[in-house]
Amino acid sequence: MYNDKIKEIENELKTVFEGIKTLNDLENLKVLFMGKNGKITLVNSLIKDVPNEEKKEFGMKVNELKNTFNTNYEKIKEELENAEINAKLNKEAIDVTLPGVKLETGSAHPIERIIESLESLLMSMGYDVVEGPEVEKDLYNFELLNLPKGHPARDAQDTFYIKGEEYLLRSQTSPVQVREMLAGKGEEPIRIICPGKTYRRDEDDATHSHEFTQMEGLLVDKDITLGDLKGTFEEIAKMLFGKSRETRFRPSYYPFTEPSVEMDISCFNCNGKGCNICKGTGWITVGGAGMVNPIVLRNCGYDPDRWNGFAFGFGIERLAMLKYGINDIRTFYVNHDIRMLKEFDRREY
Ligand code: DAH
Repeated sequence: MYNDKIKEIENELKTVFEGIKTLNDLENLKVLFMGKNGKITLVNSLIKDVPNEEKKEFGMKVNELKNTFNTNYEKIKEELENAEINAKLNKEAIDVTLPGVKLETGSAHPIERIIESLESLLMSMGYDVVEGPEVEKDLYNFELLNLPKGHPARDAQDTFYIKGEEYLLRSQTSPVQVREMLAGKGEEPIRIICPGKTYRRDEDDATHSHEFTQMEGLLVDKDITLGDLKGTFEEIAKMLFGKSRETRFRPSYYPFTEPSVEMDISCFNCNGKGCNICKGTGWITVGGAGMVNPIVLRNCGYDPDRWNGFAFGFGIERLAMLKYGINDIRTFYVNHDIRMLKEFDRREY
């Protein structure tokens, strides 16, 4: 009777693995035969009722059942696992012959190009490039530049204040002048340019942006003249707008320079005859400049009886608009549109 049970399971084991298609089925089968109430387990537990002289043989037979089951189980398990891995590999196969995705390449932004060409020219003239913070002290952005609180010239540069009145987003790159002079401690000659972002409370339109770019220049030394400034400006004008450009200074007012000038170039479009770009005047204003105001020198620790110098400031967007014939400043800030850069890629640097 025990032997019948064993025979029965032995027969079952011959075919029962054939229908197994998944690892899940295989595990179920294991429970069915080897689990706590599995068929083989139950047969095994009959041993206590088997007469002593048959126990040995019975035990061997049950072991054989277990071995048969385990051998089959391991074999099928390996096959199924391999099949699973192969299926996964096939699914994830990469066809290396498919055409690839073309990566778009960028190119230098026009603002960056103007800055780079100004930097390389002025560095060849002995200037260092320095940077200052965009969050600036009112003291450096205005006060020490001879724009005390309540000065009417502050109106044109209304900006964003941070935590009260002490800190602001710089409205010009001129505060870097202050920082450099303070660092020079009234002893070192200075020759620097500082490109960077500036901010004003302007409504954005075709020619205004609340965030824009300037480049400041400062030279402090002995016996500097307005002629030195004119010569420097002439080099800049010719480099940016062509060898035949003429330049002129017009009187102007900035609190930090005395005298102050507007820097004009002859119109590159009509060569001075008058057109819509120069509004019929033949001249285009490209920046402001002047001799550093003695008050500013003194504010920043330089003795105006021993030192003097000049300063200038350019709006980079304005230069780029003129150079590349762009009539809307917002073109520069078109977010992440690579077509804008592509357009400039084709133009002369
Ligand atoms: N900071 C001036 C502005 O934003 C530009 C400027 C004019 C800078 C004259 C200078 C300068 O250094 O001398 O309008």
